[in-house]
Amino acid sequence: MGFPKGFLWGGATAANQYEGGYLSGGKGLAVADTLTGGDGIHNIPRKFIVEMPDGTRKTFGGRDEIPAGAKAIVDPDTYYPSHVATDFYHHWKEDLALFAEMGFNVYRLSINWTRIFPNGDDAEPNEEGLKFYEDVFKECHRLGMEPLVTIYHFDCPLHLANEYDGWVSRHTLEAFKVYAKTILTRYKGLVKYWLTINEININTNFMMNGVHEHISNKKNAEQCRWHLFVGSAYAVKTAHEIDPENKVGLMIAHGASYPYSCNPEDVFAEIESSHEGKWFYGDVQVRGYYPAWKVKQLEREGIEIQKEPGEDELLKEGVVDFYSFSYYSSQAVAAHPEEHGVSEGNQTRGVKNPYLEASEWGWTIDPLGLRINLNQIYDRYQIPMMIVENGLGAIDKVEEDGSINDDYRIDYMRKHIKVMKDAIEIDGVDLMGYTPWGCIDLVSAGTGEMRKRYGFIYVNMDDDGNGDLSRSRKKSFYYMQKVYKSNGEDID
Ligand code: BG6
Repeated sequence: MGFPKGFLWGGATAANQYEGGYLSGGKGLAVADTLTGGDGIHNIPRKFIVEMPDGTRKTFGGRDEIPAGAKAIVDPDTYYPSHVATDFYHHWKEDLALFAEMGFNVYRLSINWTRIFPNGDDAEPNEEGLKFYEDVFKECHRLGMEPLVTIYHFDCPLHLANEYDGWVSRHTLEAFKVYAKTILTRYKGLVKYWLTINEININTNFMMNGVHEHISNKKNAEQCRWHLFVGSAYAVKTAHEIDPENKVGLMIAHGASYPYSCNPEDVFAEIESSHEGKWFYGDVQVRGYYPAWKVKQLEREGIEIQKEPGEDELLKEGVVDFYSFSYYSSQAVAAHPEEHGVSEGNQTRGVKNPYLEASEWGWTIDPLGLRINLNQIYDRYQIPMMIVENGLGAIDKVEEDGSINDDYRIDYMRKHIKVMKDAIEIDGVDLMGYTPWGCIDLVSAGTGEMRKRYGFIYVNMDDDGNGDLSRSRKKSFYYMQKVYKSNGEDID
């Protein structure tokens, strides 16, 4: 009964939101380094400053399309949250020790592509970058934590975005293959759990991943998706060839979604939205081929994907070992969404669900949705699953005595861990691990804010870059420690 022995308990971070040291140790610039902070509660988006083809400068919203030929830049008079972030680069020993103290036996982190290849496509890797992660992984092992490494987490090298339009281009795919093979080779024996491309289903949605015209140019978006799938499959196949012990997962933003009503029109709208938004990505990476509806859609729209010989086969050879996903909230889908209020979510929007409460950022809180997901995914694929992101982004208050009493976060975690237990014990799903998001405070991907905190460890840093970066344990730290050290027995 309960969580199986050896269940992986930990936390998750991403280099571009956590590491800082944005030019240290030979690192190059990534698109994330050109994104300013925004304000998610008041709907003020993150921004890019870009140099237009005629040499003038313009500012665009983080999800806007940027005209082909325009180049994102770092403006010396602008504050960029990723440049220091919460500075794992200089605090890694201290932070890893805190994770171990909390009871982690796994720690999910991403490798910053531009730390290894500063331009993304350099002839030789940067030894200083390779050594940095090697030291981190060795320390993880010393402390009893398995590293779970995301190869690509929202950090397209700026050079590839500006000069090649990111993942639309085959050049980026080829550069990614070299990068993936380099790290898979170098960290053989040090890393056995890998994730390929973070939230692959939302990677074409915004310029952060290098694609300039990502909404209006459907052909580009489909080509970009193809390159991401081929890149992911290559990484899986190569990981298995380099070390048969390697276990590789996909990474999908998999919020739950419900038809708004039992009107068949709403039910079908939900099927279409889930096909397009989630299952497409799972089907390709677990089954190794495009689903029938997608093939028909591409035919109908006259979109022909440019493929190289052998790539269809590669998708089949590079199917993943486990299904890993992020889960924060759920959404309702209606055939006529304009008749209902909007509900925000993890890079997505749905219609307001009258049965659920939401966070300050408008993300619904829906623990049962996680159990629904675990059942649906397992019914569909019958492979092990891992929840590699989950958590509550909230504003924390530091009391005069320095304590942070984040009972709201504890409540969120408790309810989600409880349904995981139910899904294992009652529904019989095969769940292998849990790494809640932003186990230590870091920069929000969607809004660039610091005040949207997910951590169990507080970092003294604000939205404008003020703070001494000191770390302190929140009340939730002790709650998670109790859960982890009891292997999920003690969750009350
Ligand atoms: C996912 C990402 O989208 O959700 C993370 O993988 C991100 O990078 C997380 O930080 C939470 O989203 P946000 O916008 O609150 O940071």
